[in-house]
Amino acid sequence: MRRYSIQNKIVLPFILLFAVVVLIVPVITIALFDRKYDEQNSLETQKWVQAIVDTGYIHEPEKVKEAYGAEVTIVSSDNTVNYTTLPGDWANFADEMRLHDIRERIMESNSDLVSQNVIVSGRHYKVLYYLQAYDRLYCLMRPMDKIADAKRDVTLLMLGIAVVVILLVAVISHLIGRNLTNPIKELVQFTQKVADGNLNEQCAVKTHDEIGDLTLAFNQMTRNLRNSRNELLSAERLATAGKMAASFAHEIRNPLSSMQMLAQMLMRKDNLSEARGKQSMQYILEEIQRVDVIVKGFMDFARPAALKAVSHNLNQVLQEVLDLMEANLNHHQITLVRKFTSHLPPISLDRDKLKQAFMNIVLNAMEAMPEGGILEILTLQDSDEVRIDVVDTGVGISPEDLNRLFEPFFTTKSQGTGLGLANAKRILEQHGGDIQSKSVVGQGTTMSLWLPLPSNPAPSDFNNIGE
Ligand SMILES: Nc1ncnc2c1ncn2[C@@H]1O[C@H](COP(=O)(O)OP(=O)(O)OP(=O)(O)O)[C@@H](O)[C@H]1O
Ligand SMILES: [Mg+2]
Repeated sequence: MRRYSIQNKIVLPFILLFAVVVLIVPVITIALFDRKYDEQNSLETQKWVQAIVDTGYIHEPEKVKEAYGAEVTIVSSDNTVNYTTLPGDWANFADEMRLHDIRERIMESNSDLVSQNVIVSGRHYKVLYYLQAYDRLYCLMRPMDKIADAKRDVTLLMLGIAVVVILLVAVISHLIGRNLTNPIKELVQFTQKVADGNLNEQCAVKTHDEIGDLTLAFNQMTRNLRNSRNELLSAERLATAGKMAASFAHEIRNPLSSMQMLAQMLMRKDNLSEARGKQSMQYILEEIQRVDVIVKGFMDFARPAALKAVSHNLNQVLQEVLDLMEANLNHHQITLVRKFTSHLPPISLDRDKLKQAFMNIVLNAMEAMPEGGILEILTLQDSDEVRIDVVDTGVGISPEDLNRLFEPFFTTKSQGTGLGLANAKRILEQHGGDIQSKSVVGQGTTMSLWLPLPSNPAPSDFNNIGE
């Protein structure tokens, strides 16, 4: 399973890297600047307090406010406000000014001056706490709102820039990634076509880089593969043609040599009686007929005529063949059992060809039961195909013969052409179907014929008719 495409592998690290750079660097810079500024501010405010003490302004908060622009609040030892230049109600002043903490810090640090940033009534102050006699606290409060606003503005600006930069990086790296991966995707699609056996196409070379070189190499490989496949195919065709010609020659040699023998005998024996002469001519005609059958079968196999497929009721087509054969089957002591599935959907087929294939198979079954037996014909419907089973209780077929059954000219019969099953299979394949065989020697054989259904048919029941 592929989790990340190459494109994601290119885009994600870039976005991550830039996110780190454009987010963390400004945050650290602002924090460092803030700390330095705060230190500087504390020192400056300490000097102010020193000056206020030295000049005696400590007793005149309003003047301090006027001179420094800072507020003054004086708190008694129980943290109640004695005096403040701040307007409003100061009930929660101790909490907002963190007076308890401050007193602890003053105790711990052993210094009478401590600074702290606080927010009072929503406004930012830098407060310098000065411990006076009787534990009174003198608080000099420098308003810091403008600095806090500036800090917020700078942070927002930095964030905005970071978002824009990240978006830009995402778009640019996406475009770069797409540029790199598109030719790879096309090459992958092309390789799939090649894998499906289409060796006639070439992949367009759109880039002059390593991927372009890879495409060129792949095109060359496809051409080589196509040439080798063509060579292999023509070698295979030649071999098949040779094999078929040899089988064909072998099949017609027997009738030809009997005809030769009979003709030579007719030539040599002048005093041959008329009856013997007619008899010999009769044999020759029979042999010629046999050669004709072999040639016709061979022609059917080697150059099959195109299908003339029309919609038919399959059960009816099979029944027509069985009607023809019934007398012959009875004569051979064979009981015919028909198990046709009723309401089979109409099937598009070449009636004459399918009858020819089915008749060959029924004939084989009949010939496999010289002592009589049971011949069962079933039609069955699957989801997208119908099956015809021809089941006999005949001699059966050995596993070695089972592998060669559909080879042209394979026969175990003295008078057989060995083209019956080869032709039947060819006909079924022309219909988009197939034939398969199962057999147990001494018990019987089942030949299964499949035909595809044109579309999804309605389910049908399985009925016994005409047993
Ligand atoms: N139902 C069957 N039971 C036993 N053997 C079978 C059966 N069907 C086919 N065979 C075997 O398969 C061989 C090939 O069958 P195929 O129909 O192709 O040729 P054939 O029957 O020998 O000759 P032809 O069909 O020309 O009479 C047969 O010779 C036979 O040995
Ligand atoms: Mg046959």
